[in-house]
Amino acid sequence: MKDDHTLSFDEFDETVNPRSEHCEFDTVVEQALSRRGFLGGVLVVGGFATLGGAVLPTGVKAAVNRFAFDAVPVSTSDSISVPAGYKSEVVVRWADPMWSDSVAFDQGTRGTATTQARTFGDNTDGMEVFMHEGRTLLTINNEYTNRSIIWGNRTDAKPENDDDIEKGLLAHGVTVVEIGHDGDRWGVVIDSPFNRRITPNTEMTLTGPAAGHALVKTDADPAGTTTLGTWNNCGSGKTPWGTYLACEENFNGYFSAEDENHEVSAELKRYGVSASDWGYSWAKIDDRFDVAKNPNEPNRAGYVVEIDPRDANSTPKKRTALGRFKHENAECVVNNDGRLVIYMGDDERGEFLYRYVSDGVYAAGVDTDALMENGTIFAAKFHDTGAGEWLVLTPETTGMTQAEICVHTRIAASKVGATTMDRPEWVTANPNSSEMYCALTNNKNRGLKTNKGGDETPVGGPNPREKNKYGQIVRWTPMNDDHTSAEFKWDLYVLAGNPKVHSDDKAGSENVNLGNMFNSPDGLAFDSTGLLWIQTDGKYSNEGDFEGQGNNQMLAGDPVTGEIRRFLVGPREAEVTGLCWSGDRKTMFVGIQHPGERGNSNWPDGGNTVPRSAIIAVTRDDGGLVG
Ligand code: FEO
Ligand code: CA
Ligand code: CA
Repeated sequence: MKDDHTLSFDEFDETVNPRSEHCEFDTVVEQALSRRGFLGGVLVVGGFATLGGAVLPTGVKAAVNRFAFDAVPVSTSDSISVPAGYKSEVVVRWADPMWSDSVAFDQGTRGTATTQARTFGDNTDGMEVFMHEGRTLLTINNEYTNRSIIWGNRTDAKPENDDDIEKGLLAHGVTVVEIGHDGDRWGVVIDSPFNRRITPNTEMTLTGPAAGHALVKTDADPAGTTTLGTWNNCGSGKTPWGTYLACEENFNGYFSAEDENHEVSAELKRYGVSASDWGYSWAKIDDRFDVAKNPNEPNRAGYVVEIDPRDANSTPKKRTALGRFKHENAECVVNNDGRLVIYMGDDERGEFLYRYVSDGVYAAGVDTDALMENGTIFAAKFHDTGAGEWLVLTPETTGMTQAEICVHTRIAASKVGATTMDRPEWVTANPNSSEMYCALTNNKNRGLKTNKGGDETPVGGPNPREKNKYGQIVRWTPMNDDHTSAEFKWDLYVLAGNPKVHSDDKAGSENVNLGNMFNSPDGLAFDSTGLLWIQTDGKYSNEGDFEGQGNNQMLAGDPVTGEIRRFLVGPREAEVTGLCWSGDRKTMFVGIQHPGERGNSNWPDGGNTVPRSAIIAVTRDDGGLVG
């Protein structure tokens, strides 16, 4: 099974640790089903309102809408669609040069470890712009690499030698790249002193409660304070003091053991670590990734990593205080009292939504280092009533030490009874209010299977549909606009669906229609005016349940009226992920990840070229603000 290079990370996780469809909570499912029966024939919005739970937007159109663009139709073409009056261009592609000694991409070999080390990483994900001394520094996660693409020139898309393996490894990590506009277009500033590749081999410091703990000590690092590298960095974050947060997501799929029957600990199983990796074979070139030889090494991944893009020699810091799970992004908010609050999703079926609250306050002259060292983690519990609470993870509530909470955060959250979610992806803060939004991308196990910790996943609350194929966006407002409050109120901003093929709750909420439908919301980001941008990472078959939805896309949502309008459609077999703006807000940078992951794209260069993940710049023909 592990040789199937088309398996996604979440599919892979279930093959190495299958959970049966069982009946322990049949009663709960039956209750949910009878509730759905009660909803029969009632509009989804009305139904939820009647239940007193998630009150969806009414879909009432504003007299003047907030969108400065006409809707883009769905597309199945191998190109980028943007609205009339807008254009897009490629800024930087996988394996593009960043220094004058970089070697340009070779379509035949698809590069070597040496060329990859000195070029842009693969599969762009979260990204942020940092303006520094008049320069535009783009910092981007390079989440992973597709075996079928990077080793598409090899038999069965498998690495054939150590150099192939190392090339794959070096395609991962984070890239800092200065970009510039020459009056015509955006491009890489070759040899900028800020250009940097951070890879799975870059030295980092472990900080916070888990640093130095027995759980993170290895033979190579007996002090448990210095780790090498970061990988599978998914979403991003930006601190108020201008550093970048790279969030480690599916870190587990990189570890393996020679003995395929090797049993890992229950704690590692909770995170999906097993004797089989996702097919990258890193353990063949580095014992760190051999979980039989180095059982603590996986405890040193799964964190939020802070990087200073203004100093190419700085040492990244793994912030264990923020907890260890399959981090999606890290949305920072400065609370009214000055404390730093960071909202974070754990993207796996039935895992949790988290909040971190710093002990200290962010103020001029404070030691910002301490703000992500000393603080408290909470996990969210949602009630069907529309109320919610943050459950604190402390030694008192979990029976675990603070270091153990920071390493085995999922286990701690299970102990306090947090709500199992439909794969929490990006969280974003509305700049005009205290509202927070989180994409719950989908969950085919909802109502059927427990999470890896054995927690039930009943239908209800913000996860209202069994075998959820389409996903939804939940939003919440903290009590008294205080992000440190234990209480919040929530509702659903949108329930994605397909009104073309369904008329029940799978049609979606009222603000979903034939002209804007989509599935699997993932990337979320507010622009500075308060429009919500929604990026999708879903099914692009355009058939069956997904008929009429085309390729993955990006839409804009009005948080007040609920109106949603499609802005961009990506090329074939790509995910649209990562979004930020130039300093003057006249350019929107958008990430296009894994075009042609199943062999059906030659984007962006066309012809018979190898498909390449890339960042695009979207601008208006009239030079106006985008968004
Ligand atoms: Fe890397 Fe949850 O997406
Ligand atoms: Ca994502
Ligand atoms: Ca996703």
